[in-house]
Amino acid sequence: MCGIVGYVGPKSCGDLLVDGLRRLEYRGYDSAGLAVHDGKEIRVVRSVGKLGNLVSALKERPLAGAPGIGHTRWATHGRPSETNAHPHVAGGIALVHNGIIENHLHLKRQLMEQGVKFSSDTDTEIVAHLVEREVRAGHKLLEAVRRALAVVEGAYAVAVLHKDEPDRIVIAKNASPLVIGLGEGETYCASDIPAILPYTRTMVLLEEGEIALLTAGGVEITTLKGERVDRKPKTITWNAAQAEKSGYKHFMLKEIHEQPRAIEDTMRGRIDLEKWDIIDSEIGIDAAAAADVKRVYFIACGTSFHASLFGRYLVESLSGLPATCELASELVVRDPVVGPGDLVVAVSQSGETIDTLAALKAAKDRGARILALANVLDSAIPRAAHGSLYTHAGPEIGVASTKCFTAQLAAMVLLAVYLGRRRNVLSTDRAREVLQGMLEVPHRMRDVLSQDDSLRDLARKFQHAKSFLFLGRGVSFPIAVEGALKLKEISYIHAEGYAAGEMKHGPIALIDENMPVVVVMPRDRTYEKTLSNLQEVKAREGRTLALATRGDAEVGAIADHVFYLPKVDAMLTPFITSLPLQLLAYYVADFKGTDVDQPRNLAKTVTVE
Ligand code: AGP
Repeated sequence: MCGIVGYVGPKSCGDLLVDGLRRLEYRGYDSAGLAVHDGKEIRVVRSVGKLGNLVSALKERPLAGAPGIGHTRWATHGRPSETNAHPHVAGGIALVHNGIIENHLHLKRQLMEQGVKFSSDTDTEIVAHLVEREVRAGHKLLEAVRRALAVVEGAYAVAVLHKDEPDRIVIAKNASPLVIGLGEGETYCASDIPAILPYTRTMVLLEEGEIALLTAGGVEITTLKGERVDRKPKTITWNAAQAEKSGYKHFMLKEIHEQPRAIEDTMRGRIDLEKWDIIDSEIGIDAAAAADVKRVYFIACGTSFHASLFGRYLVESLSGLPATCELASELVVRDPVVGPGDLVVAVSQSGETIDTLAALKAAKDRGARILALANVLDSAIPRAAHGSLYTHAGPEIGVASTKCFTAQLAAMVLLAVYLGRRRNVLSTDRAREVLQGMLEVPHRMRDVLSQDDSLRDLARKFQHAKSFLFLGRGVSFPIAVEGALKLKEISYIHAEGYAAGEMKHGPIALIDENMPVVVVMPRDRTYEKTLSNLQEVKAREGRTLALATRGDAEVGAIADHVFYLPKVDAMLTPFITSLPLQLLAYYVADFKGTDVDQPRNLAKTVTVE
């Protein structure tokens, strides 16, 4: 999730582009760069790290002129470095990109066979070369971009300059956002509204599969197939703070709603739809090593640990391997029996958690193969691992993890299917069921998120409770524990997550008319037993909220409140059941007026043991 900004008009645009990038830093910030046409040629300045480094570089090498494009990067392909920073240049073309090019390996191979030399490890540079190839063939920039994108698969928003057409920027979009701002004799573009809101409130949103020619006089939009598009501009009434959160009250709520996209991006380009398999190069462990694994050992903390609990079910069920799950801070204080034959999966959204890093080192010292499962490219945990499997959730700003959690679940499905296939224990039919189910998950998630209002109503009813119990069995157990963690992190209400089967061994003593009990009980093989637990809670006057599958009348007759969920493969229900619990926690906290995005005593990245 990178940030793009562009300007065409009479002003010298260097400072304006930096200002726009500063407002987009929340989208990612491991490197940044500008390309500006100075009237004769396109000049580029890039730097690694925060935007301040680019500002320093621009003091030494100022850029004057227009049009110009800028980019702040959140790496997905190629580590954060100056050479991997955007804009990428090929001949007279400079290009910035946000998204993931799925067929990048295939396109890169083709271009290399044609003699193209690459100077970065990015998927983006491929698009710059594709456009340049079309320009060399005699096409004007607009047509060149259109032709180049015809062979590109994946998600992209691009903005492109051409040395020989100094009055224009061409932008195009598929699945990654782009807005166009219309000023008086000047035109802007950006990944998101806040970047250009100080300059204009008149905006046009580019839609999927559209390409636009920006000049100082305005914008002409066509589809990638060449059909003309007439779209009326909108007037944006948000203030700057609202705009940064896309109109949501908090980053956490925005990130909850970004989950379908985070799952799509995490799966993008990694599934072979013909063979119903996972593409080898995408998993961080090669096929031979995968076939040799004897046990999978997850290590993690907090929410990443809860994702790992789900990973254990997946690995056992889909790959037939024994799997275990350990809190990183506990592994380092034992003499763990871990070593050759073990695939240790170090799960961490930040990639920097010191407990997980210490556990990783302990396992590596004992001879285990280490796979990092992280959201931040080239962070400490991936650097210390033998290989990495990245989630593509984009930067998560809210301290309470939401979209990184479900993106981790998605990455674990890919890993479990991959291990199952390489070990020849997972049939094509079952792999197809699971992967087809995964492809439908984002749609089912959107269905749940569209019922946001009813979760707010439920939260209003429960906001004054002093303590909550969350119950679930099987794959719903990690979700119950994670639901309790979310609630306590941001609302400061005590909450416990329990395996439903354990309730009778202790927590049942807590239940009375003041105790809300949230029961996660989609229709799966654990359903009947969990239904009995629900009845046991009711018999003790507990206030119950059940998460159940649509059409489940039995639960409706017992529970005080039911939130109904769309049906998905029984293995994949955590993607769906997580969402109402995140929203419940969010709205309870918001009613209580806590600092949702930065709850007290918590840090986004925990670098102390
Ligand atoms: C999640 O909401 C928490 N803020 C916390 O438990 C977090 O998951 C934990 O600190 C691990 O972080 P990591 O994924 O970055 O390693």
